[in-house]
Amino acid sequence: MDEAGGALAGRHVLLGVTGGIAAYKAAALARALRRAGASVQAVLTPSAERFVGTATFEGLTGRPVPTDVFTDVHEVPHVALAREADVAVVAPATANVLAKLASGLADDLLSSVAACLTCPLVVAPAMHTEMWRHPATQANVATLVDRGVRFVGPDEGELAGGDVGEGRLAEEAEILAAVAAALAAPTGRLAGRRVVVTAGGTREPVDAVRYLGNRSSGKMGYALAAELLARGAEVDLVSAPTALAPPPGARVHAVETAEEMRAAVHAVLTGADAVIKAAAVADWRPVSPVAGKRKKGEDAPVSLELEPTVDILAELGAAKGGRVLVGFAAETDDEEAHGRAKLAAKGLDLVVVNRVDAPDAGFGVDTNRAVLLDAGGGREEVALTSKARLAAVVCDRLEGLLPADPPTPTVPQEPR
Ligand code: CTP
Repeated sequence: MDEAGGALAGRHVLLGVTGGIAAYKAAALARALRRAGASVQAVLTPSAERFVGTATFEGLTGRPVPTDVFTDVHEVPHVALAREADVAVVAPATANVLAKLASGLADDLLSSVAACLTCPLVVAPAMHTEMWRHPATQANVATLVDRGVRFVGPDEGELAGGDVGEGRLAEEAEILAAVAAALAAPTGRLAGRRVVVTAGGTREPVDAVRYLGNRSSGKMGYALAAELLARGAEVDLVSAPTALAPPPGARVHAVETAEEMRAAVHAVLTGADAVIKAAAVADWRPVSPVAGKRKKGEDAPVSLELEPTVDILAELGAAKGGRVLVGFAAETDDEEAHGRAKLAAKGLDLVVVNRVDAPDAGFGVDTNRAVLLDAGGGREEVALTSKARLAAVVCDRLEGLLPADPPTPTVPQEPR
């Protein structure tokens, strides 16, 4: 079995067929997908039906071929069809369907299914050269590529009406390979990126049972890790103790002290694209923690000698190595001035400044408000919102700060 066949065996493919002359080739594609071991659910648009019949696809796939959103409404077919797909491929994809996919328009069964998809989507355009090169089509392509949709083709060659040029449907083998690759690869705007996130509040031992800690719950860092994973990034979550379940898919490195956090961050630093330090790290630790339990003794005052910990973020900022560095600034007064000072002093690209003395923001709660300051002088205020939403805003900014390294589309990013 070839590479594509291996990846496709046992997987379920939704095959969308739209109304272009190349629709007849979709029948051969359905057969090839079946031969590679996939189950195939074809969905035809009404325009596709003007070129090819549903009977052909029913025969080839062994499944009924729905074309209409108003049939079997009680089964909510557009949602069910999207949910069962491991991958979706639209071949051929007309300029019209690209416009609908880009804008989220859902006015027939296929576009309604597409609006519900959470699996990878592969698109194989086929149209006349003029339509393909039209700025509107290219803008739609750029939108879809940006959203993680994978394009295959179009190729140069013979087109309908005897014309020759760019716009011919990609070869069957190319489409199969693209579908297999989509199944194998992580998807999302941060696919291929690795981000180190720190979370929680460190604990510095006083003796065997006591520690110096802080009020951090870890919620902000865990929300960031979840958002990064949802966008396809690999995440190393260096976590001080929290009461939270780590998001599925994160590589968790459990630590307690600032020094352990420092070592864990350095251990996963090589090759990381970004570091987000949401952890509340102790600034001081007891100089001589007692091995056993320190006895209470007399009623006399007790003093604890403290020494400073290493500022992990400042250390990373001093040797950035091309990584994007995002810090947090937990403040109780004059927050923007303090935040800007930390941005500069620690060599950060972005600092998320938040007050930690409000009942609805900062430590422990599910909501937060923040001001984002960047090294270019930019300022963005995020009003009271969930930590999950703030995490999404931070990830949007991170995407803008990462050097461009898009996921290898097979179409030009620039309109020609
Ligand atoms: N930080 C760090 N290592 C430390 C202390 C802080 O990496 N030893 C990081 C935090 O993870 C955070 C940023 O530095 O991203 C700012 O932390 P914060 O507690 O707000 O400020 P400090 O730099 O500790 O300064 P101060 O306590 O005076 O406000």
